[in-house]
Amino acid sequence: MQYRSIINALHEYVPGKSIDEVKAKYGLDSVYKIASNENPLGPSPKAVQAMQKALVQVHRYPLGNAPELSALLAQKLEVDCKNLCFGNGSDELVWLLTTILVNAGDSVISSEPTFSEYGFCTQLMQGQYIPVPMQDYCHQLPQILNAIQSNTKIIFICNPNNPTGTIIPKQELLDFIEAVPPNILVVVDQAYIEYAQDSVDSISLIEQALSRPNLLLLRTFSKLYGLAGLRIGYAISHAELIAALYKVKQPFNVNILAQLAACAAIEDTEHCRASLELNTKGMQELQVQMDELQYPWLPSAANYLAVHVGPTALSLVQYLEQSGVIIRSLKSFGMPEWVRITIGLPAEMQALMQAWRQFLSINNGGES
Ligand SMILES: Cc1ncc(COP(=O)(O)O)c(C=O)c1O
Repeated sequence: MQYRSIINALHEYVPGKSIDEVKAKYGLDSVYKIASNENPLGPSPKAVQAMQKALVQVHRYPLGNAPELSALLAQKLEVDCKNLCFGNGSDELVWLLTTILVNAGDSVISSEPTFSEYGFCTQLMQGQYIPVPMQDYCHQLPQILNAIQSNTKIIFICNPNNPTGTIIPKQELLDFIEAVPPNILVVVDQAYIEYAQDSVDSISLIEQALSRPNLLLLRTFSKLYGLAGLRIGYAISHAELIAALYKVKQPFNVNILAQLAACAAIEDTEHCRASLELNTKGMQELQVQMDELQYPWLPSAANYLAVHVGPTALSLVQYLEQSGVIIRSLKSFGMPEWVRITIGLPAEMQALMQAWRQFLSINNGGES
């Protein structure tokens, strides 16, 4: 088979291990996964109910414009349905954006370290990916502006950033958007924005996205809304750009269950409130624990904490895994001495700290 040459250069995405894989590998009865920034409370019970009710309709194709969800979100965000496009996860929208904008040889800019999908999709389009190094694990917006070339098509800004959790001050982000030439699309990936409520004024960003055709906000139901397994995310942007996305997206890309569960999840404000409260409390407690053990960590506006463990980071991740707690090594992000911990349920965080202290007592000759 003669694949496109780019296919030979690509590597398959390697996901972290699943709970079942770790159970089977180490013969464990219970395993906790606090590695993929999922909502530890699970989906809203109202979303589960909505899906149960909808199961008998799955012989029907879904509507590609998700009309019910679109109307609900439009009302909540004070936008028009023409400003929204849904994807099979926000991952799919990153792909669609590179598809509509990036020709072979065009450049796409982002930061480093950041979410890997921007680089992957650029590579797939045979574009040139320009990762601008962060400083102190924060986006360097002036350097990103300096990296713009005549063939630059997209700038991806992950805010809060995965895996660092750091967030750009609101005015800095607005000034940056203003400074980017109008022929270059700025994508602000807000996968974790619901956790960062106080730090950023989403309304003024949405207003900007509606008024200028070169700004798009990406959001997802995978994080706060607890629907990662259903695969549903959305874009908020100017109607012109949304219309271009509609031309290339698969007509039935978001399934019926995902659409209806997302509607119920938005309306379950109590589940959102409980999820945020759990995260705030768990984050504070984890930071205290890390301070006690004298590990530096990055201030996080999201539902995970990046911690500098040092040279033993990989063996810690390995030890925790065999003890039944899965966290994320940041080696693949170019931060081999760091780990990323998703804020989990109290029992999950306790299991983490217990196994971590055991690891230390083994490695420090009895001291922890
Ligand atoms: C920054 C960022 N953007 C997008 C995504 C993908 O989200 P989705 O599940 O909607 O595809 C993730 C998932 O971890 C993420 O961290």
